[in-house]
Amino acid sequence: MHMEISRSSSSSPVFHFRVSSPSISVYVLLLLGFSAVLFLFSQRQISEVDDKVLFSETRPAILEEQLWDSSSAHGFHPCVKPTRKYEATHTWDRYITVKSNGGLNQMRTGICDMVAVARIMNATLVIPQLDRRSFWQDSSTFADIFDEPYFIQSLQGDVRVVRQLPKELESAPRARKHFTSWASASYYEDLSQRIWKDYQVIHVPKSDSRLANNDLPIDIQKLRCRALYKALQFSSPIEELGKKLVERLRSHGRYIALHLRYEKDMLSFTGCTYGLNEVETEELRIMRENTNHWKMKKINSTEQRNEGFCPLTPKEVGIFLQSLGYPSSTWIYMASGEIFGGQTYLEDLRFRFPNLVFKDTIATSEELNKFASHATQSAALDYMISVESDVFVPSYSGNMARAVEGQRRFLGHRTTISPDRKGLVVLFDKIDNGELQEGPKLTELITQMHKFRRGAPRKRYGSLPGMKGRNRLRTEESFYENPFPECICGNKNSVNNI
Ligand SMILES: *[C@@H]1O[C@H](CO)[C@@H](O)[C@H](O)[C@H]1NC(C)=O
Ligand SMILES: *[C@@H]1O[C@H](CO)[C@@H](O)[C@H](O)[C@H]1NC(C)=O
Repeated sequence: MHMEISRSSSSSPVFHFRVSSPSISVYVLLLLGFSAVLFLFSQRQISEVDDKVLFSETRPAILEEQLWDSSSAHGFHPCVKPTRKYEATHTWDRYITVKSNGGLNQMRTGICDMVAVARIMNATLVIPQLDRRSFWQDSSTFADIFDEPYFIQSLQGDVRVVRQLPKELESAPRARKHFTSWASASYYEDLSQRIWKDYQVIHVPKSDSRLANNDLPIDIQKLRCRALYKALQFSSPIEELGKKLVERLRSHGRYIALHLRYEKDMLSFTGCTYGLNEVETEELRIMRENTNHWKMKKINSTEQRNEGFCPLTPKEVGIFLQSLGYPSSTWIYMASGEIFGGQTYLEDLRFRFPNLVFKDTIATSEELNKFASHATQSAALDYMISVESDVFVPSYSGNMARAVEGQRRFLGHRTTISPDRKGLVVLFDKIDNGELQEGPKLTELITQMHKFRRGAPRKRYGSLPGMKGRNRLRTEESFYENPFPECICGNKNSVNNI
């Protein structure tokens, strides 16, 4: 291309014109014009060629950008300040006591919902007790996990929070109240009208999912965000070690936090036994049989997997990340509990990504000692490291994945890649059958499949179509998974870009 253009521009038409024309000046002008056009034309061709050369030279950089691109926030920013109608808090002499249930993130979101409920009901919130009987078997108190004084102080303009019930109310009769799931503001207003007539204290035995995701007053939604992202900080021992570990990871460059759900109870509960041997399959089945509160007993693992209801296996995660283009030198932090089968099932993933690290790889045993017997505090470290990672990948959905994704959206739409498990299983099965190989083709398919699953700004999803009543509320996207639009705002341009 380049050669051809040079040749045509050098065979100048000057000679033909010179002999045949009486009005030389006209021809000279024409000639000048023509060569100017020719010159510009050839320049453009050359610059296009140059662009191509340039492009191929910077190609790795562009790919790198795609791998780690933080969706660059698109002009969106957190907006959690109350509106002008918002009134300063009053000192209410009625109290809500709460027992927070579930794992770390169920408790965190539940606590913030209780802040909002106390505000709606014009009550003072007593620092929640944490449920010790739950699966987590953890004796941590609120102050062990969270910065209690900061929580109280930070919410001063919103809700009065106290450490304990006043002495004189300790033996007062309490209304024990199971709030309904995903309740609306009017549910709590109606309750207020009735309950405070007879009681000064109400006790709430469970805090998970007691407040609707949608259709709440804007100031209540913003309050939930202030509570979760501002007021509810981790206690300083957790905060300090978390920051240290993030720095250590950063010293190697960018890192992926992988929330790999491949624990025994998770596999048993979901009935997913793909890739496991018979002994293991039986072990998981027995565990499921014996766990009373798991209602599904007979599960067909194949069907479950085909529907996309199974956590990806460590090997599948490896194929996934490699196909997305992450180089084998990438540092991957495993934000996970104990992996089923131990090292056996991690071998393939580690072979693809040798810089696979756990908490105890990057922290000393001394540093981890005080967290060792506290699953919740240890989970808090994983949470912090996941929120701060360059890319977050959850292999399965759950409270932790949702909370981390939500906070990453809030902080500027940091990349969260949510695997399309149902789509991926089809590809993985083709690899198993020999119909597809790992390589450029798979890379293209997987990259395409995840183009819109990278945590870019979007409004929270509503319920699935055709759902009614409780199911409608159940299938809505969780407020804390995507607090957009209430707590994330954009300028005009960014809104047009959605
Ligand atoms: C709470 O107090 C405010 C301000 O005094 C009042 O307008 C509102 O109706 C009260 N809400 C309930 C549920 O009692
Ligand atoms: C599980 O489901 C698959 C696919 O529908 C089917 O082929 C298989 O026979 C089922 N297995 C059992 C044990 O029912």
